[in-house]
Amino acid sequence: PARGLLAPTPPMGWSSWNRFGCAVDEQVVEQAADAMVASGMRAAGYRYANVDDCWMAPVRDAAGRLAADPVRFPHGIAALARYLHGRGLLLGLYSSAGETTCAGLPASLGHEDLDAATFAAWGVDYLKYDHCGSDAETAPARVQAMAEALAKTDRTIVLSVSDLGQNEAWRWGAGVGAQLWRTAPDIADDFASVLSILDRQAALGGYARPGGWNDPDSLEVGNGGMTEAEYRAHFALWAVLNAPLIAGNDLRSMNQDTARILLNPDLIAVDRDWAGVSGRLACTVGSVQAWVKPMSDGSAAVVLLNRGASPAEAGFAARCLGLPANGPYLVRDLWTGQQRETVALHYGSVPAQSALAYRVWAAR
Ligand code: DGJ
Repeated sequence: PARGLLAPTPPMGWSSWNRFGCAVDEQVVEQAADAMVASGMRAAGYRYANVDDCWMAPVRDAAGRLAADPVRFPHGIAALARYLHGRGLLLGLYSSAGETTCAGLPASLGHEDLDAATFAAWGVDYLKYDHCGSDAETAPARVQAMAEALAKTDRTIVLSVSDLGQNEAWRWGAGVGAQLWRTAPDIADDFASVLSILDRQAALGGYARPGGWNDPDSLEVGNGGMTEAEYRAHFALWAVLNAPLIAGNDLRSMNQDTARILLNPDLIAVDRDWAGVSGRLACTVGSVQAWVKPMSDGSAAVVLLNRGASPAEAGFAARCLGLPANGPYLVRDLWTGQQRETVALHYGSVPAQSALAYRVWAAR
């Protein structure tokens, strides 16, 4: 079918990779799906359950098709798709634009049509296409070959380019038919990783738009390596960047704090809103950066990130937010939901290594 606008908003879901790596199996995915429903994530917009690398058997079947690992996916991928579809969810699967995946399993180079047809027959809704075995020179044509193969099937399958930001896929991803593309190396479960990925996004906002999104990688929220404040900052920053919100934690054992972050309705609304440009680094005062995204109702979504080791005052002029120089303003704290009208924009102190998140309207 025509590929149209397959991802009008940044895709939301869960991926097996950050938490489970190659230890993924059908039970993990089905239980993650159950948790997506029970936790309210599905209702909040999380739809894709994505199986990353290592789902496939070490050899293709007699007909040359990719096959699921018989031990970890004994019922096969089609059964997994049925399980997810029966719960109002969508299935994401993974392959690579080389001869093997990064884990050394069979991948799709030279098999694009057959693999796309196989994925479609199984009921796959999303394909993450990795870079292992490819390089900057070959990547665009190889991704295009898969996009074209997917377009020949009878399903609409979102195509996610996973190239660690190495091939500048933001320049060509939309042109070859992908809906999202990685803009940075693999995320790790620590705040230094979040900050280094963030720094690579500053110049890339102009490449994102409905139907084609920058992907700073899936979320580490809830995986245990960061403080709750750091996870909040991570989530809020991804939201102002219009990043795909793909949870990467073990949803089966998610605690309340993690759920509150992933389910934050105000930040999800920021992530899904489009007024023509993603959030950008608008101004910096000392150790505090203001990442600002204009919202379609004229307000500004603002994440004040303190990268320093001690609390810092954040005083940002209205012009940094793209708002009129004179108040009053209506300021909503996107973590507490508290709203207040104010003449001058004072946010108070931002704790070390954390971020405050607001939405600010010109009140009249
Ligand atoms: C590299 C990608 O960047 C990761 O997100 C993950 O998909 C691994 N490959 C899987 O091998």
